[in-house]
Amino acid sequence: MSSSLLTPRVAVIGAGLMGREVASAFGRWFSLLDCPVRPELVAVCDVNAAALDWFRQVPTVRHFDTDHKVMLARADIDVVYVAVPHHLHEALYLDVLRAGKDLLAEKPFGIDLAAATRIRDECVKLGRFVRVSSEFPFLPGAQRAIAYARSGSLGKILSIRNSFLHSSDLDPTKPINWKRQNKFCGEAGVMNDLGLHVAHVPLRMGWKPKRLYAQLQKIYTERPDGKGGMAPCDTWDNASLHCTVDLPGQPDVPLTLEMKRMSPTDTNSWEIEILGTDGGVRYSTKLPKTLLTFTRGKEQTWSATDLGFGTPFKTITGGIFEPGFPDILMQMWAAYLAERAGQLGDRFGCATPDEAVAHHELWAAALHSQAEQRVVTL
Ligand SMILES: NC(=O)c1ccc[n+]([C@@H]2O[C@H](COP(=O)([O-])OP(=O)(O)OC[C@H]3O[C@@H](n4cnc5c(N)ncnc54)[C@H](O)[C@@H]3O)[C@@H](O)[C@H]2O)c1
Repeated sequence: MSSSLLTPRVAVIGAGLMGREVASAFGRWFSLLDCPVRPELVAVCDVNAAALDWFRQVPTVRHFDTDHKVMLARADIDVVYVAVPHHLHEALYLDVLRAGKDLLAEKPFGIDLAAATRIRDECVKLGRFVRVSSEFPFLPGAQRAIAYARSGSLGKILSIRNSFLHSSDLDPTKPINWKRQNKFCGEAGVMNDLGLHVAHVPLRMGWKPKRLYAQLQKIYTERPDGKGGMAPCDTWDNASLHCTVDLPGQPDVPLTLEMKRMSPTDTNSWEIEILGTDGGVRYSTKLPKTLLTFTRGKEQTWSATDLGFGTPFKTITGGIFEPGFPDILMQMWAAYLAERAGQLGDRFGCATPDEAVAHHELWAAALHSQAEQRVVTL
């Protein structure tokens, strides 16, 4: 197998919050025991030259660019991770693909449905390997919930709920940033920002909504601009999507997708709950070690399983220890690169371009539903 598959040379465009996490994941790649690929971070690009400086401590990085076209012209790059504001996704993703590189894209994969569709079509046309970042399914609790749902132990499914909840925007003095402005984040607002995290597992399970009713809220309409004035904050802050899904032999199952920037008491809570007639499963990052399951009986009882380090790719870390965000990000990268090398096996893979387009179809329908205050058929 070629070295570009087994030892890919990776570049990052966008040296912000997420760009740095890649260096962190690759820097301790040796902790993985059964991963068939070994990436090397070789290049970083950001329009803000100062943002590159943090990467100078990463020994493998040899290219520091402020123009992504200069970076993409380099021959010694196989895979590019792009983590930039949403209004730039389409142009940069297309440039990556046309430069002949593979891509790990960030959500929401283009600012809207039209952009996502154009990117997906170019991926197909050029035959590049492209996936979209979504790390929560790689949590041991999420893996167990997915396995439980697939096991058939649920009986007839009664309801499905997946949420991703923040509370940092409750503070009205928090300054504006690009994620709170439609022109940078997209009209879908919080759905563009948090939505792929909640719909990825349901869509992968085949729970595709056929109808939805959206409740979207804008709570604070302006925020400090950081220069002594106020700036418009025009994105949707909270979104609750009440969806209907047809399952085999089971029509009209309710699926609720919640994405909130203002959810009191939640810092970064990712939650999934699937209830059936015979069993159920519930997992939340609020209690990251705890998997709740029930089996139908005389009494109504949740059983709590104390989880350990049950990640899809085994590591040197003791099986009873606790995983966290950097761990699942590394697992997600391992899944992306292993799938690229044809070595994923039966592990969970990152979101595909088709799935990213399907997410945007939901957000477009939700905007429709909100504007017309009615149920929308997909
Ligand atoms: N998977 C996750 O959990 C997760 C978490 C946060 C953000 N994200 C996504 O990651 C992406 C980036 O978000 P972030 O929070 O890292 O943003 P950020 O604002 O922290 O960083 C973005 C960086 O991109 C740089 N940039 C802007 N234009 C550029 C250009 N033309 N070329 C090169 N660099 C450019 C900026 O200077 C900045 O350093 C978004 O798509 C966001 O939705 C994903």
